[in-house]
Amino acid sequence: MARDRLPTGFLVVDPRNPEKDPIQRAGAILLAGGLVAFPTETVYGLGANALDERAVARIFEAKGRPADNPLIVHLDSVAGLSRYFKRIPERVGLLAAHFWPGPLTLVLKDEYGFSSLITGGLGTVAVRVPAHPVALALLRTSGTPVAAPSANVSGRPSPTTAAHVLDDLDGRIDLVLDGGPAGLGVESTVLDLTGERPVLLRPGGITPRQLEALLGPVKLDPAVNGMAGNEPPRSPGMKYTHYAPRARVLLFDGADSAGMAGKILAEAERLTARGQRVGILACRDNESKYQDRGYAVIAAGWRDDPAALAVALYESLRRFDRMPVDVILAEGVPARGLGLAVMNRLLRAAGGNVVKI
Ligand code: TXA
Ligand code: MG
Repeated sequence: MARDRLPTGFLVVDPRNPEKDPIQRAGAILLAGGLVAFPTETVYGLGANALDERAVARIFEAKGRPADNPLIVHLDSVAGLSRYFKRIPERVGLLAAHFWPGPLTLVLKDEYGFSSLITGGLGTVAVRVPAHPVALALLRTSGTPVAAPSANVSGRPSPTTAAHVLDDLDGRIDLVLDGGPAGLGVESTVLDLTGERPVLLRPGGITPRQLEALLGPVKLDPAVNGMAGNEPPRSPGMKYTHYAPRARVLLFDGADSAGMAGKILAEAERLTARGQRVGILACRDNESKYQDRGYAVIAAGWRDDPAALAVALYESLRRFDRMPVDVILAEGVPARGLGLAVMNRLLRAAGGNVVKI
């Protein structure tokens, strides 16, 4: 079904107390096989009825998403799990009770038989219950599980506002529900529970420490801290250069914050001398060191508290896209807590180009 342009509808909705009318209109579009972008507590999602294979296929068309990259199924409640899974393992129940609704995605054996477009033919399915009132209202009103990747064109930074969604997908989807900025700014944590030992496939809003407090040791998939190992990554999404702005990104990684600023300034001077226009993505700690030198500087969050950096990360990469910048020099943060997710996204935006200091 090749549809070139669609008039994309746009409805503003109260993020805390979503009005019935826009939610019902969005729900009806989902049930009719359409695509609806909506805010979640992580980033904006692009939803289709997970039980309608043609609707799910349209997600791949609209995003230009590789066909082997599976989708997360969003449910309206923990109780909704029992409709699609016969036997809910104890640790799944435990995690769901603690973290749902919330930014945790669980990869489970697919007992229901979801479309292979959703499972990537892996025999497993990723599920989560999102915590955003608009997402939950949409799921409840439509009464169907909703397959939803991030609502960006494949390879572009994930959208954290409705405007980002339109920048990428205007004319390709049926509706955007504008509920203001999404929450955390980085996507959910993806945890594989299909083996004996839980494996963290993608770091996100729920930290390894939070998971380990409940589960005991959690293994980090090698793709989390590196671009590619010898084995293919278990989360197919991790193998693509992703979250990429148009400018080349160089990521600086190390514990010495002042040393990092020195290295970044030296590299910026070298690049400038070669005629390249430099942007710098920094934490507030070093912001003043980069200013008034002719570089485009965006700063957010703190090295020891990167929450505000997470919120601003994708927006910042999109802002650099609109600036005359050839290279973005990005400060890395300590890879712990939410910093692990921030570093993972920066590493992938950088396509693995890292300067260790
Ligand atoms: O926060 C989020 O998770 C957002 C919001 C909209 O819910 N969604 C999101 O979806 O980030 P997406 O499609 O951009 O990322 C899903 C990730 C990909 O890395 C994909 O490969 C992985 O989850 N994934 C999905 N199903 C999987 C499966 N069965 N096995 C392993 N990895 C899976
Ligand atoms: Mg995505």
